[in-house]
Amino acid sequence: MMSASVALAQGDVISEDATVIDAGKQLFDANCKTCHRIHEKNVGPALQDVYNRAPSVEWIREFVRNPTRVIQSGDQYANDLFNEYNIMMTAFPLEDEQIMSILAYVQDETKKGPAEVAVADTGTEAATQDAGPSGFMNAIMVGIVILLLLVLGILFLIMRVLKRYLQQQSEDLGEEDKELLGQTFSLSGTLTSKPVVFLTIFIITALVVKGVITGLFSIGVQMNYAPTQPIAYSHKLHAGQYQIDCNYCHTGVRKSRNANIPSANICMNCHSSILPDSPEIKKIKAAVDNDTPIEWIRIHNMPDLAYFSHAQHVEVGGVECQTCHGQIQEMDVVKQENLLTMGWCVDCHRKTEVNGKDNAYYDQLIEYHKGNGNEKMTVEDIGGLECAKCHY
Ligand code: HEC
Ligand code: HEC
Ligand code: HEC
Ligand code: HEC
Ligand code: HEC
Ligand code: HEC
Repeated sequence: MMSASVALAQGDVISEDATVIDAGKQLFDANCKTCHRIHEKNVGPALQDVYNRAPSVEWIREFVRNPTRVIQSGDQYANDLFNEYNIMMTAFPLEDEQIMSILAYVQDETKKGPAEVAVADTGTEAATQDAGPSGFMNAIMVGIVILLLLVLGILFLIMRVLKRYLQQQSEDLGEEDKELLGQTFSLSGTLTSKPVVFLTIFIITALVVKGVITGLFSIGVQMNYAPTQPIAYSHKLHAGQYQIDCNYCHTGVRKSRNANIPSANICMNCHSSILPDSPEIKKIKAAVDNDTPIEWIRIHNMPDLAYFSHAQHVEVGGVECQTCHGQIQEMDVVKQENLLTMGWCVDCHRKTEVNGKDNAYYDQLIEYHKGNGNEKMTVEDIGGLECAKCHY
């Protein structure tokens, strides 16, 4: 408390002005949120109440602008923190005023207290995650083969029992029947016998059908596809537990057609100090050192004949990633949740209303549309079912 009032005396008053708080929130989201939360520990400490905990507000400004210098100066508080987290915070060349607005936001959030956390639904996800299309097909194939072998075994047993029985009663048999009974087992005879030929044809047909189905899955239509990646990267850990924003890695998603897979450099922003000795992280470092990209296996893949833009959907349409990709932040291994077929695109365009928020042009259109007696304006109404919008 003492240090806080000294700080106040030096003019370090943390503002309660709404516009300052708002500016602070934007700076915080853009620069600090990758590593800090207000109420809970993340990559860095929880920032709630930090202005009362740190040596002074002036110290915070110094630290944000150049954490390395503060730590190397021998500052006790900074060194204790560094020893606890073992990560060098990035330096931010921000103005006094900007850092003070971030603190205004932090103070405002501290006063509000942590938001009610919705109970996460972690029910059946794990159980349904692994059986991909090929796993499923293989299981069916193995099942059928086992069943056929069982039937074959039982038939042989019945034959033997019948043969014994008939041999015991052989006096009563006619000539023809005796001849039949006397037949011995012949290999070539068995191989060309009807049941064996039938069985062989059946197995070959089943294999061909399986091949065709697997082939179909590999041309864009591959629901549940979840290949093992070259590095055991987990969205559940990064986007779930540590709540790193999707945009931090998928940098194109709001401004271009492609979402982009992050380069190894983005990983090293954190991993040059987080777990640098882990074998998985060493693979990332090797990729950076040798200037070779990490060969991530592509999961979602639409045929070239169709055009899809992330920016149009995420930025303009306001569609959440999860609507199309499922609960990525709960997946250790990414799995394709939806068939990326034309039917899927068109179905959603029929049902989904256009997002009119903050868009004067759409607001006008929607008003005009309602004036014509319609309840809502869907993507279909703005031409989202025209062939040329998706094909050209
Ligand atoms: C790359 C991750 C990262 C980013 C980004 C980051 N920090 Fe940090 N921050 C840390 C870590 C880790 C610590 C703990 C000290 C250490 O290990 O260097 C820390 C410590 C702090 C502290 C001291 C906390 C305390 O408990 O006294 C403040 C204040 C702080 N950061 C503010 C900020 C602000 C403001 C921003 C955005 C402008 C920011 N940080 C961005 C990782 C980060
Ligand atoms: C720390 C970086 C990072 C963050 C944060 C991140 N991702 Fe990823 N994402 C990756 C990497 C690396 C891959 C490629 C490896 C893989 O598929 O797991 C990937 C793959 C994907 C894919 C599959 C791409 C394909 O091949 O079709 C989707 C979809 C995806 N991410 C969505 C998201 C969403 C949604 C979020 C936010 C909830 C998110 N990601 C957050 C790094 C990240
Ligand atoms: C904003 C910081 C940040 C970024 C960026 C980041 N990670 Fe991580 N990563 C972490 C944290 C925190 C952990 C968990 C550390 C722990 O468990 O102590 C982690 C753990 C991991 C692990 C587990 C390592 C092990 O041995 O347990 C792997 C693998 C990994 N990250 C890969 C990646 C890849 C690949 C990228 C880039 C696409 C990436 N990370 C980007 C913060 C980050
Ligand atoms: C309207 C549905 C939709 C939404 C919303 C959506 N995606 Fe996608 N995403 C797709 C489709 C379709 C593809 C396949 C694109 C292709 O093959 O050209 C894809 C592919 C990807 C890929 C693979 C690499 C690439 O650039 O094609 C990543 C990564 C990805 N999405 C991340 C995200 C993230 C992160 C968000 C949210 C910010 C998001 N997506 C929102 C439909 C969507
Ligand atoms: C979850 C729902 C959803 C899915 C799935 C979806 N879209 Fe969309 N799409 C939208 C919305 C909402 C808009 C309207 C965006 C706006 O406000 O302009 C849109 C707009 C578009 C537009 C622009 C239409 C126009 O008239 O300007 C194209 C092109 C498009 N989508 C292509 C696709 C393709 C290709 C797919 C399938 C791979 C797809 N979309 C899947 C919701 C979806
Ligand atoms: C909202 C986007 C969208 C609209 C509108 C759309 N398509 Fe498609 N179309 C796709 C996507 C995505 C694919 C690729 C996935 C697939 O094959 O299902 C595709 C595939 C196709 C194919 C190839 C099918 C195949 O098996 O290779 C044809 C042909 C086609 N569309 C014709 C049309 C015609 C004609 C119209 C107008 C009546 C139209 N499309 C409107 C998204 C769209």
